[in-house]
Amino acid sequence: MDKSKRIFLVGFMGAGKSTVGRILADKLGVPFLDLDDIIEKKTNRTIENIFSEEGEEYFRRIESEALMMTGQRESGFVVSTGGGIILKEENREFIKQNGVSIYLKADINKIMERISADTARPLLNVDDPRAKAEQLMKERSNFYERSDYIINTDLLTPGEIAAEIMSLLSEDNTSDP
Ligand code: S3P
Repeated sequence: MDKSKRIFLVGFMGAGKSTVGRILADKLGVPFLDLDDIIEKKTNRTIENIFSEEGEEYFRRIESEALMMTGQRESGFVVSTGGGIILKEENREFIKQNGVSIYLKADINKIMERISADTARPLLNVDDPRAKAEQLMKERSNFYERSDYIINTDLLTPGEIAAEIMSLLSEDNTSDP
């Protein structure tokens, strides 16, 4: 397995990017990076706090900066990105130029199940989270679908998803010259 690969996991909130990313990085023997964690450490604030105090636009700026910082790493890694990373053209371009993108696709019902007990997602802290999630998914799915690989995660465990990615990567030549 090529350890210089940079793997960007993308997808909606609650799709399992962080859980899968950790398992995958472990299997590959490369560092695991969680973009939201990096942002929280860098700013010394929580994501909710950044959204409530500074607003989404500010968050998106730091999110892009955190993404671009991964480009300074010399060896491979697995990064789990926040669900909104694909909104900016510069982020989409960066991911395309720097590694392999994998969309962890999940059904909206599964997503709502996973995040229902979780208040740490400011965009869904609204009266009707499901309607909001559906709207966001509609705005974003086109961008997610442009990833190098798409995995339907609904019937798979995180371990199975990581194994599926390993198998895709063993045949991957998307980032080869
Ligand atoms: C967001 C997703 C979150 C986090 C922030 C915004 C989004 O990350 O970056 O709350 O716009 O979808 P997860 O996808 O890891 O939940």
